[in-house]
Amino acid sequence: MDKNSFFSHAIFKKKPIERSAPDPEGNKSLSRTLSTFDLVMLGIGGIIGMGIFVLSGLVAGLHAGNALPLSLVIAGISCLFAALCYAEFSAMIPLAGSAYTYCYMTLGEIWAWIIGWDLILEYGLAVSAVAIGWSGYFAALLKAVGIVLPPALTSPPGAGGGLINLPAVLIVLFLTLLLVRGAKKSARTNAIIVAIKLAVIAFFIVLGLFSLNPANWTPFMPPNGWLGVFSGAALFFFAFIGFDAVVTAAEETKNPQKSLPLGLIGSLLICIVIYIVIGVILTGIVPFAELAGPDAINAPIAYALGRIGFSWGAFIVSVGALCGMTSVILVMLFGQSRIFFAMSRDGLLPAFFSDLHEKTKAPVKVILVIGIVTSCVAGFFPIEIVAELVNMGTLVAFAIVAIGILLLRVEQPGLSRPFRCPAVPLVPLFCVGTCVFLIFNLSSHAHLMFVAWLVLGLAIYFLYGMRKSVATSVKKTCTLSDPAPAGTEFLVSDTAPAGPGQQQGP
Ligand code: ALA
Repeated sequence: MDKNSFFSHAIFKKKPIERSAPDPEGNKSLSRTLSTFDLVMLGIGGIIGMGIFVLSGLVAGLHAGNALPLSLVIAGISCLFAALCYAEFSAMIPLAGSAYTYCYMTLGEIWAWIIGWDLILEYGLAVSAVAIGWSGYFAALLKAVGIVLPPALTSPPGAGGGLINLPAVLIVLFLTLLLVRGAKKSARTNAIIVAIKLAVIAFFIVLGLFSLNPANWTPFMPPNGWLGVFSGAALFFFAFIGFDAVVTAAEETKNPQKSLPLGLIGSLLICIVIYIVIGVILTGIVPFAELAGPDAINAPIAYALGRIGFSWGAFIVSVGALCGMTSVILVMLFGQSRIFFAMSRDGLLPAFFSDLHEKTKAPVKVILVIGIVTSCVAGFFPIEIVAELVNMGTLVAFAIVAIGILLLRVEQPGLSRPFRCPAVPLVPLFCVGTCVFLIFNLSSHAHLMFVAWLVLGLAIYFLYGMRKSVATSVKKTCTLSDPAPAGTEFLVSDTAPAGPGQQQGP
């Protein structure tokens, strides 16, 4: 290292993309078992949940009015641009770790740490927030069949006599145990849950189509015009979060170069269409102002069916909402465990987090640790504290991924890119622009909490990660022109011949 140059310090070192084999010794490599279908299902599983089943009433009633579908389109297109950037990276670097790994290879270790730490926050808090939403629906469903849970067991301490949000804790622990059984079994369970939630959504759409009242759609724009549409889009951004979890399964995907872009973009497009149809029908069967009322605000879709005379339908929708939120928790837990796993394999977190179970090949220890921690957050904290921070963490990750795409196109234009993000630099620039705009629209409370989380993360990095980093322990800092050791190549540039150890999936 050149001692005179600040940016040549070890904390800025990058992992060469040409040497991105998961683990040259092979004992910390995940096994490739997932298909394109599994990935699309993981994407839909991670996306459709609390956003549409809970937030849509708030967005229509207080922000976008009948222009709800417009807010959905704006939020969806912003995510689509991010998805295109993720798709280019994921096909090029199909390893666990998502944006953390991409950042390690483009911006350097310290930035990778920051983004990894940020993703841990995003996924961990998304699990907790959705588990709290799940608990609310679950308690309401039990109440509908005559079982009333005491408030002490359904609220966190300090909220209406609450002690613990027990259903939230139990659903997280239950799904943690499911994940321990390995990626393939988890993906199968996820696909079943997703099928149920899609059936329930189809059921809502069909019933709704027969009860439309076109008069409800006028006026189209909300009282505060485009401002309402944009604030609705910023809020509804949460409903699209989850597609990015698809790439955390990169190292467990059979044909990553093809399946990852399809899984990411396919699941997101399907969800954008579903959300728009739901938005049109919801505002077509109920006057939008009613959706923010006390009876509708927590369960607008179920309320809408009750309002048009299908009370039994409302019960079915509640079951679908529970399934929706269950798969979101499952996918987010999965994603978080793979981020921890990748950071641990690189030495930035204790090695214990990347131990794999002999039979299931799942990182069982880390799954159990994060399951216990996130269930405690879900059990003892109110939802408002956690939800906004999820958006913050995600927006930062999307922006950094888009910047990484731009940098890599300039620095290494010749790299093999099995999927190319279209219209570069416009798409990544638009992605960064919308993320920054939405970040500034979040509360200062969320900004402060996020900075506190980063400071904590940096303290851990300088006290632990920087010293233990596997890359630092290699005495000579690698350069991209060094020949790669046999068996460690993953991708080669378009112009270079493929090496004997080149690995392109199975
Ligand atoms: N998109 C996920 C949901 O709406 C986080 O629940």
